[in-house]
Amino acid sequence: MSGVSMSMLIGNLLLLLMLCGASIGAPRTFSVDYQKNCFRKDGQPFRYISGSIHYNRIPRVYWKDRLLKMYMAGLNAIQTYVPWNYHEESPGLYDFSGDRDLLAFLKLAQEIGLLVILRPGPYICAEWEMGGLPAWLLRKKDIVLRSTDKDYLSAVHSWMGKLLPMIKPFLYQNGGPIITVQVENEYGSYFACDYNYLRNLTQLFRKHLGDEVVLFTTDGGSAFFLKCGSIQGLYATVDFGPGANITAAFEAQRHVEPNGPLVNSEFYTGWLDHWGSHHSVVSTDAVTKSLTEMLEKGANVNLYMFIGGTNFGYWNGANEPYSPQPTSYDYDAPLTEAGDLTKKYFAIRDVIKKFHKIPEGPTPPSTPKFGYGTITLQKTETLLEALKKLSYSDPVKSLYPLTFTELNQARGFVLYRTTLPYNCSNPTPLSSPLNGVHDRAYVSVDGVAAGILERSKIITMNVTGKAGSRLDILVENMGRINYGKGINDFKGLVSNMTLGADVLTGWTMYSLNLEQAISKGVLKKSISSGPPQTPTLSSPTFYEGSFVIPGGIPDLPQDSFIKLPNWTKGQIWINGFNLGRYWPARGPQVTLFVPSSILKTTTPNHITVLELESAPCTNGTCTVEFTDTPIIGTTHLDYYKPISRLFSKKNLL
Ligand SMILES: *[C@@H]1O[C@H](CO)[C@@H](O)[C@H](O)[C@H]1NC(C)=O
Ligand SMILES: *[C@@H]1O[C@H](CO)[C@@H](O)[C@H](O)[C@H]1NC(C)=O
Ligand SMILES: *[C@@H]1O[C@H](CO)[C@@H](O)[C@H](O)[C@H]1NC(C)=O
Ligand SMILES: *[C@@H]1O[C@H](CO)[C@@H](O)[C@H](O)[C@H]1NC(C)=O
Ligand SMILES: *[C@@H]1O[C@H](CO)[C@@H](O)[C@H](O)[C@H]1NC(C)=O
Ligand SMILES: *[C@@H]1O[C@H](CO)[C@@H](O)[C@H](O)[C@H]1NC(C)=O
Ligand SMILES: *[C@@H]1O[C@H](CO)[C@@H](O)[C@H](O)[C@H]1NC(C)=O
Repeated sequence: MSGVSMSMLIGNLLLLLMLCGASIGAPRTFSVDYQKNCFRKDGQPFRYISGSIHYNRIPRVYWKDRLLKMYMAGLNAIQTYVPWNYHEESPGLYDFSGDRDLLAFLKLAQEIGLLVILRPGPYICAEWEMGGLPAWLLRKKDIVLRSTDKDYLSAVHSWMGKLLPMIKPFLYQNGGPIITVQVENEYGSYFACDYNYLRNLTQLFRKHLGDEVVLFTTDGGSAFFLKCGSIQGLYATVDFGPGANITAAFEAQRHVEPNGPLVNSEFYTGWLDHWGSHHSVVSTDAVTKSLTEMLEKGANVNLYMFIGGTNFGYWNGANEPYSPQPTSYDYDAPLTEAGDLTKKYFAIRDVIKKFHKIPEGPTPPSTPKFGYGTITLQKTETLLEALKKLSYSDPVKSLYPLTFTELNQARGFVLYRTTLPYNCSNPTPLSSPLNGVHDRAYVSVDGVAAGILERSKIITMNVTGKAGSRLDILVENMGRINYGKGINDFKGLVSNMTLGADVLTGWTMYSLNLEQAISKGVLKKSISSGPPQTPTLSSPTFYEGSFVIPGGIPDLPQDSFIKLPNWTKGQIWINGFNLGRYWPARGPQVTLFVPSSILKTTTPNHITVLELESAPCTNGTCTVEFTDTPIIGTTHLDYYKPISRLFSKKNLL
């Protein structure tokens, strides 16, 4: 008896040991199989169907909800960029806290059952301020970004020396979710074509991440883009949207990679927007048709974007000729900016279902939205009245204007002040002859709004005033160029201003930190009404108001959208959180996403608006409106029909 039970026990122990051995010792591997033209995961052929989600565009409290929805759509992987300038705002000062906690995001993805394709740059494009590069790189005026420029590379080495060791434990072979890591981004679209740069990055990534991890590049799906984008040692993949010739695009990849998996690293589910253009949409049918075709070919596909999210604060980028992107990065993706399920979501899920087993169970529902109604705001101070409280350092004096970078400021606003050198009793042209207003200037004389200058659009205006009158030029960085040659995008007054035939001199410059001033609540209700403004244009002015989350309604606070009817252009904060830019006067975006995570139930919620041009107020009182329905654009177009003629990556070279 005891012999039998003893042998059973030993047998069980052996079995247990074997199982443990299997789970501890079996290597987690991920590699390219050049014979079978596929990826291999733990030795088995593997194909990913992935979706892009940028953690930096979604409040942290919503990461889990969005990732779960992606998992339930049948995706087995996600793809994200890492924006360098979001984590290293000043050289050597790193921020991975709160909404910037990349490792927490990676852990969450893994817990949910999603693999990760990581794209750490250093350059990322992404319709993000300066393509993710920190603006402080421009302290070297003639720096050649994305090349073997000594100072650029040395900054890249410092940053990657911080980032890559952090993510190393998260590589698949080390027990984490990261299966592949992209080096640079669409480098073949950049003029520099510096192979030594790509070689240097390859060595750098290998040094920090080891020899095993699959490193890859992504370029447009044609020989033209792959030429400067691909290099020995990095697996070349392509990107293209619906409507592209799939056969031709993958043939281009095959030209560089005769063997290995077919990969579309950015299959466009939608497209980006610009202020002043129509909202882009791509039809669900076009997306599902191309997706089906690619999956039938056995290709690996990443859907860019699966959820676009929001450019909160000042984080949007811009294209050339200078054209900034709006606050919403909805992208017409299968999950909306606010994470809601769409017809496109379910249609994509139905396609994936035909190829892969998809998880059973309910999909998390769209988060409920609530319209908090119409809120009254009061005019507080003008920006000029509040100037001392808004500038975070002493003003800087200089004969000629200095750029944001020279003033050690990356984003937001700088006030440039000088005086009129002579009487301008007749309208006198104030100009930036070299188109050096980057990007928009709100001009006042003695506190009275005089006009607006805008990069590449309005380079001259008239002023009148007496000799010695104060000339104030508030300059807004509307987002640095994120693609093409123009990424060395200096901000502020980047060349001289002229008045008549004279160069203006004797400037005083105020770097502004609005976030700090607003969160400290230093703005005061206007005592004087200030100098009278014209009915159509006022000097930039703050407005404030508050609202209480109603009681007796379950599950509040909920997400919302804020609308600024008849307001013109500006920036809006709720409880000190910078929601982004609004510009209904130009469109297409009309509402801004208000995540419930920034709202409070215990105290009134505080709204601050900086209106740069003209607010729809009577006697200093005006309104904003919370609604449960987003309006991010009214006109719909398929990008690959009319828009490809207006705007394509090729045009931007
Ligand atoms: C890469 O660039 C760094 C920084 O300039 C330099 O120290 C290193 O020698 C370069 N590596 C190669 C292989 O060129
Ligand atoms: C797509 O490209 C392939 C290969 O280059 C070509 O044979 C085919 O005619 C193209 N199809 C269309 C519809 O242009
Ligand atoms: C400017 O005009 C005022 C009168 O409006 C006059 O008193 C003054 O002398 C003028 N200054 C110059 C520099 O011309
Ligand atoms: C400036 O004023 C002059 C003279 O009144 C006028 O001819 C010109 O059109 C004005 N320029 C602008 C940009 O308003
Ligand atoms: C402004 O003009 C002066 C004199 O011509 C020149 O030395 C200076 O570099 C210019 N500054 C800018 C920012 O263009
Ligand atoms: C906005 O302006 C339009 C046209 O002037 C007006 O009809 C409408 O009532 C205004 N809306 C608000 C909320 O002020
Ligand atoms: C605005 O103020 C003026 C003068 O103080 C007053 O007569 C008028 O009724 C006010 N208008 C509104 C809409 O409150």
